[in-house]
Amino acid sequence: MAASIRAPPPQAPSAAHSSWRHSPRIARGFLSVPSAVSPPPQSKIVIGRKRSSCLAVKSGMGTEVSPISEDRMLVMVPPHPLIKHWISVLRNEQTPCAIFKNALAELGRLLIYEASRDWLPIINGEIQTPMGVATVEFIDPREPVSIVPILRAGLALAEQAPSVLPATKTYHLGMRRDETTLLPSVYLNNLPDKFPAGSRVLIVDPMLATGGTMVAAIDLVKEHGVDNKQIKVISAVAAPPALQKLGTKFPGLQVYAGMIDPVVNEKGFIVPGLGDAGDRSFGT
Ligand code: PRP
Repeated sequence: MAASIRAPPPQAPSAAHSSWRHSPRIARGFLSVPSAVSPPPQSKIVIGRKRSSCLAVKSGMGTEVSPISEDRMLVMVPPHPLIKHWISVLRNEQTPCAIFKNALAELGRLLIYEASRDWLPIINGEIQTPMGVATVEFIDPREPVSIVPILRAGLALAEQAPSVLPATKTYHLGMRRDETTLLPSVYLNNLPDKFPAGSRVLIVDPMLATGGTMVAAIDLVKEHGVDNKQIKVISAVAAPPALQKLGTKFPGLQVYAGMIDPVVNEKGFIVPGLGDAGDRSFGT
């Protein structure tokens, strides 16, 4: 049943994210839902090639440690209230352009934080504090995470990546989806000739609608030497057609989304979605 909620006026983003607290609430157990139905908002979803007619939804946080079959794609929707907050700001058609862009950046910060959990190269050592010697861990700066924002809207979602991750390199991909055919084309490819062996790659695009753009982007990244399992996708809103396509084509891939919406309309827009994230970010 649809609830009527009066949306609060858009507000400037809070700068209080240094007080981030994370509650690793882990629930176990799978649900199966038809692909046309929006899964529960707090969910981990595993999509396998043999189960293309349904999504297996696993409730819980990104800290789940149970083994995930390597022939499945994993979709994470982290159940954090800040993520819901920024999605709500993005959904609001009244949100002004500058605040929309900022909301995408804040959402990207949170999703990248979640995606980097247990994924970064660590250096162990000992360090002298003013009071004694401590055993410490640092992120290894010799293996920067590769950030691939898909222009235009991916620029805003990826904006905070260097403030979350101590070492990053950014490689821009410009992609445009034809309004009639909905097929993507590449107008800028700044990928390196070959990614270093073992590179971790975050591909960042707010919308996974038909999935054509992300499939083409992942194909390109893979052509430059990266395996599915080394790639994570960061997205604001994902829809079932894109998730089905990605799950079938890229087993082992991981997708971090702020929300999953049920419908892609005949014009290729996610409903209810956010509208055109590129236009709304840049006031086009
Ligand atoms: C939007 C969006 C994705 C793509 C998703 O980009 O940012 O890149 O469409 O659609 P798909 O999953 O059906 O391929 P758009 O082509 O509008 O470019 P923009 O970011 O410059 O607005």
